This record gives sequence, structure tokens and C-alpha cells, in this order.
Amino acid sequence: QVTTLTAGAIGKDGYRHYMEKELHEHPLVIGQTLQRMVDPATRKVVLPELPFNLADAPRAVMTACGSAFYAGMVGRYWLEEIARLPVDIDVASELRYRNPPLDRHSLGLLISQSGETADTLAALRALRQSDVHILSVLNVEHSSMARESDAVLGTVAGPEISVASTKAFTAQLTVLACLSIAIARARGHLDPLREEELVSALLDMPTRAADALAQNEAVRAMARVVAEARDVLYLGRGSLFPVAMEGALKLKEISYIHAEAYAAGEMKHGPISLIDSSVPIVASAPYTPLFDKTLSNLQEAKARGGRLLVFTDTKGAERVSAIAEQVVVLPHVHDFVTPILQVIPVQMLAYEVAVLKGTDVDQPRNLAKSVTVE
Ligand code: G6P
Repeated sequence: QVTTLTAGAIGKDGYRHYMEKELHEHPLVIGQTLQRMVDPATRKVVLPELPFNLADAPRAVMTACGSAFYAGMVGRYWLEEIARLPVDIDVASELRYRNPPLDRHSLGLLISQSGETADTLAALRALRQSDVHILSVLNVEHSSMARESDAVLGTVAGPEISVASTKAFTAQLTVLACLSIAIARARGHLDPLREEELVSALLDMPTRAADALAQNEAVRAMARVVAEARDVLYLGRGSLFPVAMEGALKLKEISYIHAEAYAAGEMKHGPISLIDSSVPIVASAPYTPLFDKTLSNLQEAKARGGRLLVFTDTKGAERVSAIAEQVVVLPHVHDFVTPILQVIPVQMLAYEVAVLKGTDVDQPRNLAKSVTVE
């Protein structure tokens, strides 16, 4: 059980890189973030006092850059599904110039680890021109975005040193999950039993995240295949589509292997022409309501010579193993929290590939931890 606030203590603590250390902090930061957002006595999500009423927002507009944007994409599935809140989401470098029409009291939702990314800050200022309430999900709580927001929800990930984001991502997902529950309740879309079910699934996450980290040998075996490739295709559906996007981004960032993510159902509209035995297909296919759909997409890829490397769970393992070359099996968890768990081995895979390639994992070329110029 998580009890102390030690994530991010400076030093590698015997790990090979900061990124490896930070990957191993997933259970801790999810637990710490939940401690801040869930009342242990009532097991209800309790947000800090906000200077506006969440129930008044007719819609949300979300924005962020890089990994934080993919966390936002997962958040959109939750806000729409659980809170029935319409959500528009765009990368900050686009949103800042889009000037979308916004209803009064809409929720402007920003996500950033550093709170300093120039495009996200500019998007915040652009949103300020409309009468929206700005709520930012930030890891650095004394940052430019924090100062210019109406309210901040903190991710309790501690300092993240590795340029490629890892633990901040699961902390962002944890906050967005709790926010979705709070908005759902405020809008009258969540009965107490359902809230109890969702919160229980979240409270189970630190333990399940530790189980996911224990799969590192299976992830390393996958990494040996990916490290030989020039191009890699990542696939996922629903809230696992952004997980695929995060996986492809991470692989590009630190191993310099070209990777693209597609919604699995979209593969037939183009990327299927890329498939041959030289392009590994990394898929997230745990046993969710979309499992059968994803599996049939994977069968289509296999029929065209694709090598399948699949992240699944205990309930999906048997059927996935029948078609995949390699499988990483995670515990089966509630659909709601599946992306939080599944992203962990996907990030680990990029890390292990980068180690095999011998790149500068913590300081990849051409990248900065916080991009403060446009
Ligand atoms: C940079 C980093 C990414 C990060 C993005 C957004 O591009 O290399 O890892 O996701 O900025 O950063 P932020 O601090 O706003 O989350």
C-alpha cells in the first residue's frame, strides 16, 4: 500500500536511467494522486473547492501537447461516457489559432506536466478571450499555467527528469478519471453504486500497476523484435487508441524507430497496405467490450503476414495467444481503468527498445523536457 510521498527523489536509485526509475514509480504516483482526490472514509471523489460550478459547463474544450494530449484523449472518452459531457479536444498548437465558438461557462481543460509548454500556455490565453472557466491538470503546481488558471488539479507525480514522460501520464489519467466521476455526479449522471464501483477500480490501480511492472521479462522479449524493425504500427480501439498513440510517440522519441498509431478499425482504410513481416504490429487488446472487434482487426493483419505483439489481460490471453507471436498478459481490471494499466507496459516497451538500441534514453536527440518556445 502507498503511504509516503517519495516519488521523484533525485537520483537513479540503482536504475539504469531516470526513465526506468520513473516507470517503476507508476504505482506510487497513482496512489499519491488518489490520496489527494478520494476521501478514504466515504470512498468518494472529493475535488478541491472550485471557483465555478462544474454542473454549469455545457461542454469542455481540452488541450495539451505530446503525451499530455494523449492523456486528454483518454479523458475525453471518460467525460463523454461517464459524465455525458460533450468534449472538443485538440493539440494546443492548433487550438491556439482555431478560435472555436464556445458557449459561456464551458470548461477549458488544460493538461501539462511542466505547466510551462508555450503552445499550451498560449492556448490557455486564447481560451481566456471567451467566457470559459479554466481548469488545469498540472504536475508543477507553481508554474505559469497554474498562475493563469481559475483552478488547478495537481498530479502528484513528483519531479519527472527523463525527457520522455511516463509517470506523469498515469497521474494525469488518474486525475482525469476522478474529474470525470465528479462531473458525472454534479450533472446527475452517476448513482452512488456506480461511483463506488468506479472508485474501487481506481483504488485497486496501485497494486495492479505493480503487477504490470512485474511483466518486464515478457516486455523485453517483445523489445527484441521491435528493436530490429524500421517501422512499427500501433493499434488500439476506444480508450486504448490514445494508449497506442502514446506508445508510438514514446518509441519514436527515444528509440528513433518510425512508429504510427491507428485506431484498429481504421487500419483497413490505408495502413493495411504497409503490413508485411518486416512491420511489427503492437496492439493493446485487453478484454473490454471492444475485444472481439480488435481481435478481428488483428486477424486481418495476421492474414497479411503481420507479426502480432499484443498487450492483453488474463481474460483475453487465451484467444490472443492463439494468433499473436508474443503476448504480455496483465491482470483483468474494470474497463474504466484499463487504459491506466495498459499504458504501463507500452511505455516499458519503448524503454527496453531504446536500451537495446543504445540511445541516450533520458536525453533523446532534438527533444526538450519542456518546450517553452513556439
Ligand atoms: C515535450 C516533451 C513531452 C511532453 C510535451 C508536453 O514535447 O518532450 O514528453 O509530453 O512536451 O509537455 P508538458 O510539460 O506540457 O506536459
